[in-house]
Amino acid sequence: MQKVFVTRPISRVGIDILKNAGYKVTLQPKPINLSQKELLTRVKGYDALLTLLTNKIDAAIMDAAGPQLKVISNYAVGFDNIDIEAAKKRNIIVTNTALPEINESVAEHTFALILALAHRLVEADRFTRAGKYHGWDPQLFLGRDIAGLTLGLIGLGNIGKMVARRASAFAMNILYHDVRRDEEFEKSFSARHLFLEQLLSQSDIVSLHVPLLPSTRHLISTKQLRLMKKDALLINTARGPVVDETATLKALYQKKIGGFALDVYECEPAIDCNPRDRYELRKLSNVIMTPHTASATVRTRDAMSRLAAQNIIDALSGKKSTASVT
Ligand code: GLV
Repeated sequence: MQKVFVTRPISRVGIDILKNAGYKVTLQPKPINLSQKELLTRVKGYDALLTLLTNKIDAAIMDAAGPQLKVISNYAVGFDNIDIEAAKKRNIIVTNTALPEINESVAEHTFALILALAHRLVEADRFTRAGKYHGWDPQLFLGRDIAGLTLGLIGLGNIGKMVARRASAFAMNILYHDVRRDEEFEKSFSARHLFLEQLLSQSDIVSLHVPLLPSTRHLISTKQLRLMKKDALLINTARGPVVDETATLKALYQKKIGGFALDVYECEPAIDCNPRDRYELRKLSNVIMTPHTASATVRTRDAMSRLAAQNIIDALSGKKSTASVT
């Protein structure tokens, strides 16, 4: 009987699919991230690993699992936590869960962050809860309407396009930067393709939708932040290290940009890369932070669980999965 190791509890449907397909499934039952040392000992002897983006799956883990390991099924869109070259060398299939559902959830969350930041929802909520509301005040929490503002999308994959669809319904102007031009997209959304520098200087809201690659690490740093408008809002639901957090904190403290909403952190799970620094994200009222929950909806988590399981079944039964990234 082939064996599957699941590194952390996930939505039940996928586990049931694997069990019903006749695999022996071992679920690490605690909602904690196994340390690298624990992972090394726990993965031994499995044919498939169902991993999360918080598991660093490198050559050492693959070798510790043993030569029978055929598939690493990542329960995420991103797979920057896996050493793809090491997997290729060992003929291990790596799959992800790049589903329409996950893309929709991330696009919705991105849009929720845009609206919340522009309309200062979180600040206003904190104020109201604290009992500070004593009657209508025409100057209270003046925010910005996003209608008519320019949204700059950096990265035009599935998620970037889904954000554009929402932005268009909210009457925003759309700019984008991507290594590839998409003329059909430009026509459908009256969007313009720009160099990064141009996009940064012309956008009111900049939203990141690129994978984490050596070329996208610190894509937004001091030089890029300087190009942005003083009241521009920056949104990151992609990967933390795409933004140079220290440079962004400095820009926020110096009022070089207008606000920052993020779901992902450069030194995740730490919120601040330099916790002893006097600059802190959590101290800023024009910062909204969510705990890497952009895809956290019941529908999406179930769909991810189903697909992660199906990816294992396909790989172990020799079918080439479209979800394969190796
Ligand atoms: C979440 O960040 C994912 O990559 O699925």
